[in-house]
Order: sequence, then C-alpha cells, then structure tokens
Amino acid sequence: MKDPVIITEYTFKRGERIFSEYSDRIQWIVCAAEEETVARKVQEEKARIVVLGVDRYQGPLYEVLSDTAKPAPAIIVRHGVGYDGINTELCRKHNIFLAITPGVLDQSVAEHAIALLMSLARNIPYLDREFHEGRFVRKPGFELKGKILGIAGFGRIGKSVAAIASCGLGMTVEAFDLLPLARQAEGEGISEEAFRTRYGLRGYHTEFEPFARLLDALSINLPLNKATTHFINAHRLAALKDGAILINTGRGPLVDEKALYAALVSGKLGSAGLDVFEREPYTPVLPEMDLRTLPNAILTPHAASDTEEANERMQRMVMENIFAYIQGKFEKLNRVV
Ligand code: GLV
Repeated sequence: MKDPVIITEYTFKRGERIFSEYSDRIQWIVCAAEEETVARKVQEEKARIVVLGVDRYQGPLYEVLSDTAKPAPAIIVRHGVGYDGINTELCRKHNIFLAITPGVLDQSVAEHAIALLMSLARNIPYLDREFHEGRFVRKPGFELKGKILGIAGFGRIGKSVAAIASCGLGMTVEAFDLLPLARQAEGEGISEEAFRTRYGLRGYHTEFEPFARLLDALSINLPLNKATTHFINAHRLAALKDGAILINTGRGPLVDEKALYAALVSGKLGSAGLDVFEREPYTPVLPEMDLRTLPNAILTPHAASDTEEANERMQRMVMENIFAYIQGKFEKLNRVV
C-alpha cells in the first residue's frame, strides 16, 4: 500500500519532476498551504507524513497529525532549512518529528546575497531599467574589492557568503555570531587561526556594536527565533557607518522593517538588498512605509534558495527523510525535533 504524503502546492510544483519519480511508492496529496487545509487533508487521508514550505503553522495541525499516527510518532518534513514557521514545542508535545534539509541550499543563498550586493554596488537595476526604457545613461558605482563586509550569523550560509566575498571579490570580511570563535574552531577541529584563514576572516565578534561600526555592508544570515526577532532594530542600524548597505537573505522578522524603511529614507543606510520580509507575500508593515516605493532597495520574493541545483538537492533530501521514516530508520532522519 502506498503511503499518503500531504504536500503543499507550491512545494510540490517546485519539485514535481523529482517527486513524481516516487509516485509508485508515495501517494502525493497536494493541497493549499493554509494550516486548516493541511490539517483537514491529514485527517481525511489518515496521513502521518507532511511536507511543508516556509509558511507558518501554529495551530490545529499538530494534534490532528499526531492523532492519525498514534501510537507511532508522525513527521513533518520541511522542504528547506529554516523552521521558524513550525512550532517545535507543539511537535514535542504531540510526538512529531521535524526533519529539514540542511547544507544543500547554502551555496544558492550565498550566491543570491552576493548578487544583491553586486547589483547595489553597480546600480544594475537602475541601469537596466533606464536602458529598457530607451535611455542610454550611466550612474557610477563602486568596487567591492577592499570594502568591509560584515556577516551577522556565522553558520553554514554565512560561511559560504564569507568565502565568496573574500576569495572571489577580495573583500575584507568580519564575522559576528553569538558562538565564540573558540567553539566555532573546535566544531571544525581546527585552530582559531586556521578557522579565520579558512573563511578569509579579518575579525570575529560576539558583540554587535563594535562589529557594526567597521562595516561598509552587512549581510544578515542569522536563524530566526525569539532572541533574534527584530535583532536589526533602529538602535543597531544607528551603529552602522552612514550610507552602509544591508543585505537580508535570512528571514524578514530579523529586521524591524519600520526602522529599516526609516533608515533607507534618511540615508543612514545607502541601500538594501532584501529577499525576505516581515510579511510574505510582501505587504508593507504600514501602508506609508512601502519598501517598493524606494529607489535604493532591491527586492526579490524569498527566492534565494530557488535554483535548479538547490531544489533538486532539497527534493532528494526530502525523499531520504520520508523513506528513513517509513522504514523506521529514525537515526537517518535530519531531525531537529
Ligand atoms: C528557505 O528560506 C528555507 O528556509 O529553506
């Protein structure tokens, strides 16, 4: 008998070719991403496996899912790596595993962060828009070589951004993370010196303000949780150099969007490249603070990990998680709960 797997529509479409390869063993139940719909489908199909995208699930899903799987644990598989939309407390309470796809999208997200940075440095959106509208005009940009890039959040994606910026562009890279350098180096089994060399780091900081004061550009690569919500607020933005660039490919709520809008209007921030927003699909936090009206903001629709390569790797890892679960090989799951 085929196992029913509930999967949200956007996630399924993103991986339809790969997911369909498994249709002889999996009965794919594709549905809208809203929590009530997912929960209803779980109940109707008596499913114990759910595959979800970046949407938020904070209510009825968990109880329904654990009821259908009982007494065994159920599983939520995230097609992706950030799991701020999933309620981990409810997963624990209801005996639900949560698996993710770590490591497979780092390069894509890092390349997107660098693409935003380069586009801002060289006014690419402006030049392109003018050209398409029939004007052959220029606007001088600036080189990134020798400029100082700060990376807030030195996990896997932050490290990939650092490697491209330092080795590829000759930028000077400073890292900020709550984990001390000694622990980072220990985690990779190398000395602090070797860790710095590996990622082309000049400095490593656990305090934000002294780090922020050094930077020409800041890339946000923190995970989103209670402690990091609105981590970039008016106070921390004020610590940056006037005219600095901000890049966010992490999560929208890491940045207080009202403070961000104000800093872009006042010129405190020179420009911003944003792939993630407090509300997605994007709606301004206040109607009068619409980022889409600002010429110094480049906006992309949470697309940093959306490459052919990362998608294929994510889809294969989703399948590995599903089969490990079905076969009871729980030790093989990429579990975070
Ligand atoms: C994308 O944002 C992810 O968390 O997978």
